[in-house]
Amino acid sequence: MINSPLMTVMVDAVRKAARGLKRDFGEVENLQVSRKGPGNFVSIADKRAEAVLREALMKARPGYSLIMEEGGSIEGSDKTHTWHVDPLDGTTNFLHGIPHFCISVGLEREGVIVAGVIYDPIKDELFIAERGQGAFLNNRRLRVSARRDLADALVLYGSPYLGRGNHPRLLKELGTVMAVTGGVRRQGSAALDLAYVACGRADLYWERDLQSWDMAAGLIMVREAGGFATSADGGPDALAAHSVACGNELLHRDLIALLKKANQ
Ligand code: IPD
Ligand code: CA
Ligand code: CA
Repeated sequence: MINSPLMTVMVDAVRKAARGLKRDFGEVENLQVSRKGPGNFVSIADKRAEAVLREALMKARPGYSLIMEEGGSIEGSDKTHTWHVDPLDGTTNFLHGIPHFCISVGLEREGVIVAGVIYDPIKDELFIAERGQGAFLNNRRLRVSARRDLADALVLYGSPYLGRGNHPRLLKELGTVMAVTGGVRRQGSAALDLAYVACGRADLYWERDLQSWDMAAGLIMVREAGGFATSADGGPDALAAHSVACGNELLHRDLIALLKKANQ
């Protein structure tokens, strides 16, 4: 386990926000929903959870900056620390009553992600990671899977919403990956996709057109679990590239090669 004051702050904030989110999920059909853009819904629950997170994080670490999906950015007096907050990752699942979504909070210190918390309130699964201290699911230490053959690999991916991203490109990549791997899944929460690779449930994951709040916590989760996480083109900075590819060292290398091949 990780018992640092920082982790306590993050876990407390996330658990507090999760209580409302879980309650709202139970009433999902009564929620008032507005359309943010094609295929990208924002619910009242989402905004409420973000407000709880914002308040808790600002209270515990007053100077830190925040980058939040719903509320945009708040610049703090401390220029070296930034929270990347997604109060509800897996919004489409949430609104359709599919119990697969989470809260994701990552902390960046001088350009490096140093801590991450991802919490799935329905399954009560808390994924935490801190730089140099490992990654954990509830109290269990995480390791990425040790599989070596693409033919055995379960691969997660994300598809862009209607009117967003490059659909033909994804179809080419998916076709190439599907042809040589054990199975593919589109689960609908980027943060949980990263967490599932970190805990070895899935072997690989890639997605493009992501934002820092989708990825920050998950990137450190995979790395602290011994995995590789880069941009989908194999570059070191997934956040800057707005894309990710991850898995164990060997399979990650194979995935990058497949994605390159698909784009030739
Ligand atoms: C989305 C989810 C989804 C991914 C999208 C994200 P949201 O986040 O992580 O899996 O494919 O790109 O935008 O909208 O549910 O917070
Ligand atoms: Ca998200
Ligand atoms: Ca979200």
